[in-house]
Amino acid sequence: MKKILFIDACIRGENSRTKTLAESFLADYGQEVDRLNLMEEGLHYFSGEFFWQRERLLEEKNLNHPRFRYAHQFAKADKIVIAAPFWDLSFPAILKVYLENISVDSITFAVNEKGIFGLCKAEKMLFITTRGGSYENDEMEMGVRTLKAMAKFFGIKKFIAYGVDGMDEGKVPVEELLNKAKRELKELAKNF
Ligand SMILES: Cc1cc2nc3c(=O)[nH]c(=O)nc-3n(C[C@H](O)[C@H](O)[C@H](O)COP(=O)(O)O)c2cc1C
Repeated sequence: MKKILFIDACIRGENSRTKTLAESFLADYGQEVDRLNLMEEGLHYFSGEFFWQRERLLEEKNLNHPRFRYAHQFAKADKIVIAAPFWDLSFPAILKVYLENISVDSITFAVNEKGIFGLCKAEKMLFITTRGGSYENDEMEMGVRTLKAMAKFFGIKKFIAYGVDGMDEGKVPVEELLNKAKRELKELAKNF
């Protein structure tokens, strides 16, 4: 089996239901995992000198600068799992900051006269999320849509979204929702 890069954007850490599901999936997958806990990385969004440094490095084609390490790691991964809760109709800003940092010309994507194309090696990307309300097939759900588009942009052919709705609605006990999700994720892990 191939190695997974697990990108953890579950801000509530051990209290996160999304993280519980992701850990259950990874345990079922049963192979080695490279973990990237975004909350521990001190990621910086683009602004001021941090933005201009990037422009200079790209101009010089200096792609080995340490700030591009996340982009190289993402581009080389065999398979990718991202876990993030549904926040403000999307996902926490820390994940957007990560996406900003890994979107690097000539590492994760490239441009030629035919257009923009992805350079990432991963064959599959799985996104696991849990939502307080219910958003199935709702255009207001912008987390899955964004990550699906990003996967395509990076050249990752297969994108799978696994979301659990209604976590805060009180209609079905949270434990019940999580147990059902764990069973379904176990099946997903068999063919991931
Ligand atoms: C800052 C914040 C924003 C949220 N925004 C939404 C939202 O827009 N829609 C929704 O249905 N639930 C929203 N929720 C609820 C979470 O999606 C829900 O509780 C989820 O299960 C949290 O996942 P976690 O346990 O992994 O942190 C929000 C929760 C927080 C803390």
